[in-house]
Amino acid sequence: GVTPKIAPSMLSSDFANLASEAHRMLNCGADWLHMDIMSLAIFIVQASAFMDMKHFVPNLTIGAPVIESLRKHTKAYLDCHLMVTNPLDYVEPMAKAGASGFTFHVETSKNNWKELVQIIKSHGMRPGVALKPGTPIGEVYPLVEAENPVEMVLVMTVEPGFGGQKFMPEMMDKVRILRKKYPSLDIEVDGGLGPSTIDMAASAGANCIVAGSSVFGAPEPAQVISLLKNSVEK
Ligand code: DX5
Ligand code: ZN
Repeated sequence: GVTPKIAPSMLSSDFANLASEAHRMLNCGADWLHMDIMSLAIFIVQASAFMDMKHFVPNLTIGAPVIESLRKHTKAYLDCHLMVTNPLDYVEPMAKAGASGFTFHVETSKNNWKELVQIIKSHGMRPGVALKPGTPIGEVYPLVEAENPVEMVLVMTVEPGFGGQKFMPEMMDKVRILRKKYPSLDIEVDGGLGPSTIDMAASAGANCIVAGSSVFGAPEPAQVISLLKNSVEK
């Protein structure tokens, strides 16, 4: 069966104090730490013709060096979400840095996801696939049903790029469909999750909950984390 995982998004933390922010979240009951690795290209470049531009602004937010630094301060599961144009380039650096989960975007990996999943696993990380709000859910079925499958699907509930955006409830159809098809799959939701939206996500069937601004912006993050966890367990 699926177990709840609450994953504070470190994108909303104080980057200058990343280790203490991570410890603070773990002490507040966080199960995973969600790490957003972004390069600019995925947001600007939609046309597939440009998807081959490999080194278009790599490491714009954080990258392997920061994961490596954080890893020295914690044994926590680092749930890495790669919003990059060519995730294959990041597998080895992220594995060496100590990433635990490696979630790539289906939009960037149409032609090489099989190879990607295999390499992620052979580097000792857990593979996941993410999809943007505009991407139909059917695009991830082959990856979940493959002989060598992804182990998590991340359903974006905002357009990737920034914390603090508004949750898109219409994405819950995707979560419901996935949960019905795959009863024991880890289904993660990311974007705009907090006390006012968690019930929609939990009742649709999500079990891994990313929450940035709602947790870091709360006077008592522990209360928010336990509220999120209780909703999933219900
Ligand atoms: C958005 C990132 C999210 C973001 C979530 O591109 O993938 O992980 O940090 O932040 P909130 O919870 O504030 O929407
Ligand atoms: Zn994310």
